[in-house]
Amino acid sequence: MRVKELFEQRASVRKYKEEKVPKDVLMEVINTARLAPSAVNLQPWKIYIVTEGETKEKLNKAYPKDWFKQAPGVAVICGLENENWIRKDGRNYLMCDVTILADYFVLAATEAGLGTCYVGAFDENIVKDTLNLKNEDPVLLITFGYPDDSVKKKEKKRKPVDEITELM
Ligand SMILES: Cc1cc2nc3c(=O)[nH]c(=O)nc-3n(C[C@H](O)[C@H](O)[C@H](O)COP(=O)(O)O)c2cc1C
Repeated sequence: MRVKELFEQRASVRKYKEEKVPKDVLMEVINTARLAPSAVNLQPWKIYIVTEGETKEKLNKAYPKDWFKQAPGVAVICGLENENWIRKDGRNYLMCDVTILADYFVLAATEAGLGTCYVGAFDENIVKDTLNLKNEDPVLLITFGYPDDSVKKKEKKRKPVDEITELM
């Protein structure tokens, strides 16, 4: 798939089939996502995959929406707080690195036929407590699963090129 096609295909999916995502499909998505670049190649990240049991039940409370609960899986994308690059003026690149990884995960998942949705509006304390995180910063939750057939493609509303670009 060409990259523009992939970008057009990726959309936030908030309704999934019940079907579980096979472990090998998921592992291949992560195997692709780990090619993401990072500052000084430090790769300051960890992905927790939560699909069932008490952990999923607890995690659902961090973002109490029905569609989130219904998602077959959630990837918790974490930054490793002691392993990130900090520029000499103090700028911390952890969020930047982790976001790139999250995007690679989402795009690899899209290519594998999965639907995903980034979730930022979660309760961080519940996520940390559920996964017993200490030096790992949960930056994003990403739901995943096979999209329900009734999910319709929406037109992407984006700012035009000339509004977001300054040619100098
Ligand atoms: C960093 C980030 C955080 C987001 N958080 C949420 C969220 O908490 N809940 C939600 O339903 N969607 C969330 N979204 C999805 C956005 O609403 C969605 O990407 C945007 O409206 C564009 O739609 P599209 O993804 O279908 O192209 C988030 C997206 C990003 C990139």
